[in-house]
Amino acid sequence: MLARSALRLAARPAVASIKARTFATASRATAAGSRRVAMMATAGVASASVLSYAYLQNPVSADAKPLAGVKGSNSERTFIAIKPDGTQRGLVGKVITRFEERGYKLVGLKAIAPSKELAELHYDDLKARPFFAGLVKYISSGTPVIAMVWEGKDVIRQGRAMIGATNPLESAPGSIRGQYCISVGRNIIHGSDCFEAAEKEINLWFGKAGELIDWTPANVEWIQSDN
Ligand code: RTP
Ligand code: MG
Repeated sequence: MLARSALRLAARPAVASIKARTFATASRATAAGSRRVAMMATAGVASASVLSYAYLQNPVSADAKPLAGVKGSNSERTFIAIKPDGTQRGLVGKVITRFEERGYKLVGLKAIAPSKELAELHYDDLKARPFFAGLVKYISSGTPVIAMVWEGKDVIRQGRAMIGATNPLESAPGSIRGQYCISVGRNIIHGSDCFEAAEKEINLWFGKAGELIDWTPANVEWIQSDN
């Protein structure tokens, strides 16, 4: 018990030293290398079994793209988050399925219980609105948010269309909010509303090196080709 706490303490400074990555992609590979070296140096006393994940966490498909991909290209990316009500209601799989089946590629995924600070930064543009405090409390309730980055042709605009209007009562019935929600305050999902928002949000939620993975789906030609 004591030994395990000591190991956790030994590992913590290395984790805390990871710097948020910048928008420039080139620096990300360097940051991944530094993180590994820092972890190995600081946690040298710990056994490999405790830190094996940290040691092995060096992606073989390093992401070399800008955070939000290239606007207007097949590599455009958006930040999609299933909010706490979506998680509580067991709708995670259904939301992911919609994006997968449409033909979009999942390049980042994690469950996170956001801090108040993260929720405030994410919805920074709404801080003057009367519902801001309630919105932050809802997002940082402790129930996991499922944070994702999806990639593909026109994914930012299409993602918003798939999600539907902010007020679910005004959403098309086939949209996610139109199918699963009835209240603006519990509309289960977020999506970046423009390229600049995607850049900001992906940096905020997936800003550390190695969090996004560049990969090629086997069916890419069957989904993306034009004649
Ligand atoms: P989101 O950012 O979450 O994707 O939503 P959105 O673009 O469709 O709408 P936005 O105006 O950005 O509002 C962000 C979220 O704030 C909550 N909201 N509550 N009157 C209210 O209680 C109210 N109005 C907005 C919703 O969760 C909305 O999605
Ligand atoms: Mg919004």
